[in-house]
Amino acid sequence: MQSLIIDGGNRLTGEIEVCGAKNSALPILAATALTDGETVLHNCPVITDVYSAERILTHLGCSSVLNGNTAVIKSSVQRSDIPEKLMSEMRSSIIFLGALLGKTGKCALSFPGGCELGARPIDIHINSLKKMGASVKEEFGTLVFTAPKGLNGAKLLLPFPSVGATENIMLAACLAKGETQIKNAAREPEIADLADYLNKCGANIKGAGEGTITISGVSSLKGCEHTIMPDRIVAATYMSAAASTGGELRITKLCRNDLDSVIPIFEEMGCYIYSYGDSVFIKANKLKAVKKILTMPYPAFPTDAQAVVMASLAKAEGTSVFVENIFENRYQHVPALTKMGADIKVEGKVAIVEGVKNLFGANILATDLRGGAALVVAALGAEGRTVIGNIHHIDRGYENIEKTFSLVGGKIIRK
Ligand code: EPZ
Repeated sequence: MQSLIIDGGNRLTGEIEVCGAKNSALPILAATALTDGETVLHNCPVITDVYSAERILTHLGCSSVLNGNTAVIKSSVQRSDIPEKLMSEMRSSIIFLGALLGKTGKCALSFPGGCELGARPIDIHINSLKKMGASVKEEFGTLVFTAPKGLNGAKLLLPFPSVGATENIMLAACLAKGETQIKNAAREPEIADLADYLNKCGANIKGAGEGTITISGVSSLKGCEHTIMPDRIVAATYMSAAASTGGELRITKLCRNDLDSVIPIFEEMGCYIYSYGDSVFIKANKLKAVKKILTMPYPAFPTDAQAVVMASLAKAEGTSVFVENIFENRYQHVPALTKMGADIKVEGKVAIVEGVKNLFGANILATDLRGGAALVVAALGAEGRTVIGNIHHIDRGYENIEKTFSLVGGKIIRK
């Protein structure tokens, strides 16, 4: 198992490019299973979750070749089952459900189950697909979905704006008979990017990125060329690292609008932020606590940025309060931050961060993707050496994290 060895205390300075969005690349890779022919995806992040999605596509009978940041997928789905081994690599493989059901009229996959963040139920996915004509039964831990007569459009009102459920319904609805309307749909920018890809393939999707999405079924979809949107959470991670090390970074190839709920938090923290074109310049000063940070569905503050922002605030003067409203167990990074000297108390959804003067290097373990990134952010700004284990969690969503931070002055190596 690899580790990251970080000697903290260096101010990060220079320019960092943001990679393509993991949470856009994954649903779009799943969406290629709906299409015929070839899809070329530019700005595809080189991360292990993308490799997992490629393995699923290959299992299904498609081919996927990643050359640098360009993925070329030739779609020719020959089967509709995803074995437990592939499902367990990445729980967001559930996103293949809508595409396979829409393309083949059936899908068998093992229950994605929970993860470090909580139970991660899929009831909204299942109930919505049943309303579109699918039936589902459980056979020895495998969920078998069938729609022998194909899927029909339906009017759906989601009890919660679930990102994955919205995406699965969109995928299932593209080739369904008639019109599907999703009310209380997730509004994350990745949803709009998925719709943009699908419409370029010949789908008829309106309203993606807003609260109500309408999909009119078409007869077939043809692969296309698409550039994946920038990763807004990776951008927030780099901002957190600048704040945590008292540095200054030009963060480029991002989409400024996607950070509307994140940038004000760094300004309240006392950072100077200047946005221009597809870049943001951030200069950290003495950090001040942020009174309250509530994670909520987009366009509010994203749950995925909670851990990395908390790592910066661990050394801010005063008391910051987080309320994690999306996942029931998303403070897994707190014990490791505490071991580094942070003063953080967790009570259910609430985490109270009392800023301390310094954090100190420690031997710690990553527990999940964004929690692991938070440990890197904290270690870069800590005194002394930190060794972070279980870094496979981090590699799921960050391209070569040690090289990225080394290029701007971070002392970080992989061993
Ligand atoms: C997506 O997960 C992202 N993953 C997550 O990013 C992100 O944190 C999350 O959306 C929220 O923005 C991908 O896009 C691959 P949800 P998803 O369905 O689709 C409950 C990262 O770090 N829920 O919006 O699983 C669920 O339990 C990852 O990049 C139900 O109750 O998120 C959770 O509490 C982590 N029933 C809440 O909704 C359902 O059927 C949000 O889940 C579905 C969800």
